[in-house]
Amino acid sequence: MRILIHTQKGGVGKTTTTLNLAAALLRQGQARHVLMADLDPQQHLTAMVVTDPAQGESAQALPVRGEPGLFLAKARPDAPDAGFPDFPSDPDAWVFLDTAPGWSPAIARAAQEADLVLCPLEPDFLGLSGVGRLLQRLEDLGTGRDRLRFLLTRYSARLALHREVRQRLQAQFGDMLLPVEIRNSVRLAEAPGMGMTIFAHAPASTGCDDHRTLASALSGTHRHKRTAA
Ligand SMILES: Nc1ncnc2c1ncn2[C@@H]1O[C@H](COP(=O)(O)OP(=O)(O)O)[C@@H](O)[C@H]1O
Ligand SMILES: [Mg+2]
Repeated sequence: MRILIHTQKGGVGKTTTTLNLAAALLRQGQARHVLMADLDPQQHLTAMVVTDPAQGESAQALPVRGEPGLFLAKARPDAPDAGFPDFPSDPDAWVFLDTAPGWSPAIARAAQEADLVLCPLEPDFLGLSGVGRLLQRLEDLGTGRDRLRFLLTRYSARLALHREVRQRLQAQFGDMLLPVEIRNSVRLAEAPGMGMTIFAHAPASTGCDDHRTLASALSGTHRHKRTAA
């Protein structure tokens, strides 16, 4: 399962989602191996984890300390058009590509190779404004809407604006909007500073619940894909 995590905007939770969704899939046993590739030249994902030196098989994939089954492939500034890395040890691995904001030829190619394009959005009107452009770009590539999923992040149900944006997305996009929101949580914002996933940093937090629910929703999509294949 190859998932491209992409939004036109920065600071919407792409990297936070990549790391904590990967950790949730492994902890719930929905994946045995997850490789996260950091395609952002700013290397935020790389900065969020502690890696051990590679052993043998793939020099590109470094084990993440304290998270069995989780691997990181660092951004390669020398290869700006790099796409999904190979992960030879496990054909059933999940591979996430965490990207920088903004469209690029590398992202276009990755979108064509991906099983799913996951688009995190903050529930405000600026967050919504890039959605139409992203859809158009995917359609230009011949990548159907059925592979695109929206995920609301930093969500607060008590804010009327957030509820309204969610309703609009649901009305316009139906099942393309994932049936889970990542709630706003100071614990999620703290964890990267400790080099930890949310599960290691605050095991009883809403951030854990939300990423577990997200992992289950995406595993359903994955099973569907495998049955159809
Ligand atoms: N659900 C959330 N609640 C609170 N803070 C969050 C949440 N998701 C992300 N953040 C914080 O927002 C900032 C941007 O998140 P990040 O994942 O780096 O976004 P992106 O990769 O899209 O640029 C980070 O400081 C992160 O810790
Ligand atoms: Mg990022």
